[in-house]
Amino acid sequence: MTNKRTRLIAKSAAAPVALIFTLAVIAGTASAGTIAGSAHDFSSINNDGQICVNCHTPHSADTTVATAPLWNHDVTSTTFLLYSSPTMNSAPGQPTGSSVLCLSCHDGTVAVDSFGGNAGVDFIAPGDEHYIGTDLSDDHPISITYDSALANADPGLNDPSATTVTIGLGGDKTNTGTVSNLLLPADQVQCSSCHDVHNGFVPPAEPDLLVVSRTNSSICFTCHNK
Ligand code: HEC
Ligand code: HEC
Ligand code: HEC
Ligand code: HEC
Repeated sequence: MTNKRTRLIAKSAAAPVALIFTLAVIAGTASAGTIAGSAHDFSSINNDGQICVNCHTPHSADTTVATAPLWNHDVTSTTFLLYSSPTMNSAPGQPTGSSVLCLSCHDGTVAVDSFGGNAGVDFIAPGDEHYIGTDLSDDHPISITYDSALANADPGLNDPSATTVTIGLGGDKTNTGTVSNLLLPADQVQCSSCHDVHNGFVPPAEPDLLVVSRTNSSICFTCHNK
């Protein structure tokens, strides 16, 4: 299926994509560990070569979402369908925190280029592999509290304040700490528990911006004790 987003990229990206490819070949590992050239580098599409501006601004930021870091992108106002399950101890509510920011492109209701007052035309549309949509009932639960109390109540979960995880690349791009500290903003499972929006702590060769490798389901065993 061809949608607006795909067409926009196809129309304008030929030269920049070639450039990114060349740089990646020269630098060897440039495809991992930096937002430049990653799926979230929109500089070749619609914003005068800037990388951060679709999401952040140094001034006059939107404070609609309390925890949003100097936010510049329009925020979704969707009421989402939620995951529910009789075997879950948690009961997810509407998305909170940084997950709202992710969904402000990935739910398909707000354009990728709706930032800084631009109306925006470039949607992640149904059929796009990156489309999450407004129905989260078939997605891993987010915006739920995951703390020692939950782990005590559910022996299938590791205690997040006593379990250690190493995320990211080698060298100064590795970070080791507790699951609580590294993966759970305000003790909550969010999209950013599994994904690094900036591609800064993604193991080499790991697609989908995952902070821990999916090989042998390592990312799942980080929290689940099955
Ligand atoms: C596609 C959207 C997007 C782009 C592009 C983006 N960011 Fe972010 N940024 C986010 C989101 C969402 C958060 C909050 C969630 C998180 O930190 O995972 C964030 C958080 C931050 C934070 C605070 C938390 C932290 O991780 O340190 C800083 C600083 C930041 N971004 C800087 C930048 C800079 C600098 C650029 C450009 C080089 C950039 N970002 C590009 C979405 C983006
Ligand atoms: C400004 C809009 C925008 C925001 C905000 C945003 N994304 Fe994306 N994201 C996109 C687009 C567009 C793509 C697909 C890019 C492409 O097709 O090349 C994408 C791709 C992805 C991918 C696939 C990466 C890959 O390598 O294929 C993941 C995973 C992802 N986003 C997760 C997130 C998470 C998690 C957040 C919040 C922390 C977030 N996104 C915030 C627009 C956004
Ligand atoms: C518990 C971990 C986890 C959480 C939480 C999570 N994801 Fe993912 N996500 C994954 C994994 C693992 C993949 C790779 C899927 C695969 O291999 O098929 C993925 C893939 C993706 C992709 C790539 C397209 C696809 O569907 O394969 C996008 C976009 C994405 N996630 C966005 C999000 C957004 C937005 C949120 C929050 C609403 C989120 N993710 C929450 C683990 C997670
Ligand atoms: C950052 C921690 C974390 C990661 C990573 C994670 N999960 Fe979860 N997951 C949770 C928590 C917390 C719950 C809610 C458990 C509860 O409330 O009983 C949950 C719930 C679930 C549920 C729903 C259980 C039910 O009873 O309906 C499934 C299934 C699941 N996760 C599978 C996965 C898979 C597969 C992966 C790897 C792709 C994964 N999780 C990665 C923390 C995580």
